[in-house]
Amino acid sequence: MTDISKVVVLGAGNIGGSLAQRLAEADLAREVVLVDIIEGLPQGKALDIQESAPILGFSTHVTGSTSLDALSGADVVIETAGLARKPGMSRSDLLSKNAAIVKAHAEAVRGYAPHAVVLVVTNPVDVMTHWFRSITEFPPARVFGESGTLDTARFRWFVADALGVASRDVTGFVLGSHGDTMVPVLSLTSVSGVPLTRLLPADRLAAIVERTKGGGGEIVSLLKSGSAYYAPTASQAELIRAIVHDEHRLLSASAHLDGEFGERDVYIGAPVVIGRHGVERVVEVELTPTERQAFSASVAAVRADLDLLSQLPA
Ligand code: 2OP
Repeated sequence: MTDISKVVVLGAGNIGGSLAQRLAEADLAREVVLVDIIEGLPQGKALDIQESAPILGFSTHVTGSTSLDALSGADVVIETAGLARKPGMSRSDLLSKNAAIVKAHAEAVRGYAPHAVVLVVTNPVDVMTHWFRSITEFPPARVFGESGTLDTARFRWFVADALGVASRDVTGFVLGSHGDTMVPVLSLTSVSGVPLTRLLPADRLAAIVERTKGGGGEIVSLLKSGSAYYAPTASQAELIRAIVHDEHRLLSASAHLDGEFGERDVYIGAPVVIGRHGVERVVEVELTPTERQAFSASVAAVRADLDLLSQLPA
């Protein structure tokens, strides 16, 4: 059993609503609260999800609120609020608008839920996670971002599809930022233990890497308004399950580096162990020189966005 009783999802858009549904259906908390500034939206989505309980058989109590005091006593908070990309936009284009939203939410979490573990989803996620952590002054382990879990799911699917094998048999890592510079790591990818590089030729691997890097943009272009939420919320729920059930999962997430991979004071997608208290540790794996170089370039891209953030008016 779990000692997690209250999970608060900030933002009741496509991501927030879908995530609340996944959390409730998996009975991952006694109480899931959806919070949004649009009157009726969080209450309406929450009630709609709740009314599926008699059919689906879950016990989670789902409510909605427009007030940030609903954060009171939360064990886990997921920050999903903010603008999503439109076709042609990069995640970094969202920086200034989303920074203001995240600031207000981080201040509220600091006051109402000082012991919460926080998962940040708002883009650009590595920078927003850094921002959220610095405002709350929580220990870095208690604030992390969903990035590589999603990118890795996309990567695993593309590999499975190319090989005609079950996607759950494909394991691997996408590291670096959740942005154009992300690093699908071929040297750490296998299919039931068989190295991927022995299963596909270099040109097909390169195509899968490129498709993975553009995976979020591919969905944005198809939808034309809004961005992906089914795979994102599946990966968020996987991370929340790892917290709730103290699973010690080894997953890719945006974590605070303190010397690992030669980097300090930056949030970036890295292999981490996730348990009840958040990030238990960063697992520093050996990368090939090319992968290492790509990882460093990705860190540099996040640092450039952090510089932009520091120049925003207070
Ligand atoms: C994505 O990659 C929304 O950033 C998210 O789909």
